[in-house]
Amino acid sequence: MKRKIVILPGDGIGKEVTTEGKKVLQKIAEIFDHQFDFEESIIGHDAIEASGNPLPDETIVQLKNCDAILFGAVGHPKYDNDPTLKVRPEQGLLKMRKELGLYANLRPIKLFDELLEASSIKAEILKGSDILFFRELTGDVYFGEKGRKDDGNTAYDLMIYQRYEIERIAHKAFLAARTRRRKVTSVDKANVLESSRLWRQVVTEIAKNYPDVELDHQFVDSAAMKLIQNPRSFDVVLTGNLFGDILTDEASQIAGSMGMLASASVGDSVGLYEPIHGSAHDITGKGIANPLASILSASLLLDISFGLKEESELIIKAIEATLKSGYRTVDIADSKTSKDKILNTSTMGSFVVSQLEKIPVVNYFNS
Ligand code: IPM
Ligand code: MN
Repeated sequence: MKRKIVILPGDGIGKEVTTEGKKVLQKIAEIFDHQFDFEESIIGHDAIEASGNPLPDETIVQLKNCDAILFGAVGHPKYDNDPTLKVRPEQGLLKMRKELGLYANLRPIKLFDELLEASSIKAEILKGSDILFFRELTGDVYFGEKGRKDDGNTAYDLMIYQRYEIERIAHKAFLAARTRRRKVTSVDKANVLESSRLWRQVVTEIAKNYPDVELDHQFVDSAAMKLIQNPRSFDVVLTGNLFGDILTDEASQIAGSMGMLASASVGDSVGLYEPIHGSAHDITGKGIANPLASILSASLLLDISFGLKEESELIIKAIEATLKSGYRTVDIADSKTSKDKILNTSTMGSFVVSQLEKIPVVNYFNS
């Protein structure tokens, strides 16, 4: 198979982790005799520095003309504490999602058994958890009208959803549930918000097309509690942009660490694959970032954008073998991990690569 992949490292640890994701993709191409042609492009703080624009037009052209995108992260501390800056790295990410029509963000939360002790949640509560989030990605407060009035003393962000935006992601969630445990939990705040009442109404209507899938509705506050109390009670979670952003950071603890969570953003055209963690400037340049979320993103890329299931599953198996051998980056190490088992970003990537040639395949994301 011949495909063009754009690597979009972005800011902070984005560069370090996508280097490892790319390394794994190159090894997969070699083993399975594919031709992956890589291009690199810029977004975020770096792009602002270079051109004043967090998503330059040249980047958009490159992204629209490739088969898949492996993205790192955007963000820079300089902007976080200065609300007066009008041009911000995150605008690049949001514009990219909108321009490419990436309305569905899939965030699989699957715990590797070896990491049961890495989470701050008790192992007996976590064991066997396997959740697939569908976070709507191009609507909600992220894209509703926003502004200031009263001389800047009043600020607003409009929470807005249109029927078609809810319908299209709901279909995706129900279809995915059919390949899993056939349960969709739709999360909203319909006891307070009008946009959530439309959300609930539309999801209930769409569910009629999938009588074999069980649907339940939860309010977001209660869902946040139940995720930690009983994560095994969830299969597919369907929710809006803001609630999905918050709940998936919370749910990352079910997988042991933020450094383990990959995501796929899909919709109208090319797919984009990225870790859910951010640019993490506190650890940038130290070489200690966990590259597994980027490597898992590469695995999702192969499966979803290229239909290469065996290749995708081989990456999961290689990560399992790595973790079974006791190797950890600092974020997933526990008190029993000895110093010589702690790898840095690059040696972790290389160890996973070394495992790829050795292993049979298993099914991971659809188990
Ligand atoms: C994410 C991030 C982004 C979001 C930020 C960087 C704009 O937190 O992908 O979850 O809020 O969507
Ligand atoms: Mn987030």
